[in-house]
Amino acid sequence: MAEVLVVGGSGGLGLAIAQEYAGRGDSVVVTSRTKSGADEAAALVGGSTRGLAVDLTQPETIESALAEITAVDHLVITANLPGGNTIAGFHLGDAIAAATVKLVGYAETVRVLSDRFRPGASVVLLGGLAKDRPYPGSTMVTTVNGGVSALARTLAVELAPLRVNVLHPGVVGDTPKWQNAELSQVVSRTPIGRTVSTAEVVDAVDFLLRNGGVNAVDLELDGGARAS
Ligand SMILES: NC(=O)c1ccc[n+]([C@@H]2O[C@H](COP(=O)([O-])OP(=O)(O)OC[C@H]3O[C@@H](n4cnc5c(N)ncnc54)[C@H](OP(=O)(O)O)[C@@H]3O)[C@@H](O)[C@H]2O)c1
Repeated sequence: MAEVLVVGGSGGLGLAIAQEYAGRGDSVVVTSRTKSGADEAAALVGGSTRGLAVDLTQPETIESALAEITAVDHLVITANLPGGNTIAGFHLGDAIAAATVKLVGYAETVRVLSDRFRPGASVVLLGGLAKDRPYPGSTMVTTVNGGVSALARTLAVELAPLRVNVLHPGVVGDTPKWQNAELSQVVSRTPIGRTVSTAEVVDAVDFLLRNGGVNAVDLELDGGARAS
């Protein structure tokens, strides 16, 4: 039975990833910014899943928030602040929060857990296609997702033999984020003729977590959209 921690496991992709491992009988912990949100998510995931409150906009609180985690085989960090930010209308508070969550928060989470990873443990960080395919308003999304790639490479070296990889999905059309969104333009420029699915993201995360030879890799899961 693996010990699995999903930081940002209260909704969307993180929730689906947690459900996959709980369904296999693994011991799963999911996080939300609030304890009530985390407990609700843990109940949704089912089994023995536990919920923890972790807020990556407050990096100095991460160590105490994760104090009860004693062993980790698989760490997945999906946490993300919604919203865009253009350079023309640059909002400093939003920009600092976005960088804090995905760069400082992801790094501090891994640091805090660094002496609790069991032999053979692995980490997957969530980036996104915006790192290679900017769009108006993606200034911070593009910047932090590019930074997540760099972060994974340095973590893989500093914390060797811990494996650290990044999954960069394109638009995952069946996530709550895109509910009711008009995605025909995205679909038309995606060679597979559709957006990628949550099930495909879960499968790709599992591959990165499980395959012992894959390390410091950026895996793009976008149906070929970045090539078109
Ligand atoms: N969905 C897509 O199409 C897509 C495409 C490309 C990349 N991605 C990336 O994949 C990841 C997951 O996406 P998603 O659509 O599943 O996101 P989501 O539904 O918005 O879920 C984000 C998670 O982040 C948590 N969170 C938000 N603010 C946080 C904070 N300050 N500290 C800690 N946790 C926080 C949320 O928890 P609470 O709200 O409960 O606190 C939630 O569990 C993100 O990193 C995103 O950039 C997604």
